[in-house]
Amino acid sequence: MSWAATVLTLYPEMFPGPLGHSLAGRALEEEIWSLETVNIRDHATDKHASVDDTPAGGGAGMVLKPDVLAAAIDASAGETERPRLLMSPRGAPLTQSRVAQLAEGPGAVLICGRFEGVDERVIEARNLEEVSIGDYVLSGGEPAALVLLDAVVRLLPDVMGNALSGEAESFSGGLLEYPHYTRPRSWEGRDIPEVLLSGDHGRIAKWRAERSEELTQSRRPDLWAARRHTTD
Ligand code: ADE
Repeated sequence: MSWAATVLTLYPEMFPGPLGHSLAGRALEEEIWSLETVNIRDHATDKHASVDDTPAGGGAGMVLKPDVLAAAIDASAGETERPRLLMSPRGAPLTQSRVAQLAEGPGAVLICGRFEGVDERVIEARNLEEVSIGDYVLSGGEPAALVLLDAVVRLLPDVMGNALSGEAESFSGGLLEYPHYTRPRSWEGRDIPEVLLSGDHGRIAKWRAERSEELTQSRRPDLWAARRHTTD
């Protein structure tokens, strides 16, 4: 059984987009995961096929209608095994641990908001989990859904060629990754750090751990603080 993604969107042509290429694209061809898109507009009921309306209480923008979105969810993702994620800047920030959790499950239903937002009642009634990919505002949830799916798919069994390269990378251990180098040994007057050419695996591991810690402390004091609290 492959990991099943269903994406509800007003722009189904945005998918698979970048996920049709590289690692995720190969995994899609190999049926390690599947991707179904649902056009929310196909579930509109009036003669103009309207999906949005003006906000109650006034104000700018338009709000996605609850009846239309609920009909789209019920028709394509009525089962409750898969979490239903609403991509929204108001959501809980996406983390590597939530991504890993999703990868271990049967799949996910991703709902891409547009306009000013989604009627609050459908969020409650259909048990939608709001997820944000960062503290900035996109024009719609589609790029956020692509980001989330990319992060999940690379963790699915048999997707990453070298499973070990997933272990040392940023965030898995709560730290940023150490710097990488490859040939040539000297480039534009900059040399590969001597220790990496020493063949001394103990010294190399120590150097990498120190660089990871330095980078995390200076760039991500939030990650550094969180790590210290769990190890103290
Ligand atoms: N839709 C608009 N902005 C978003 C964000 N930062 N994360 C997830 N979905 C969004």
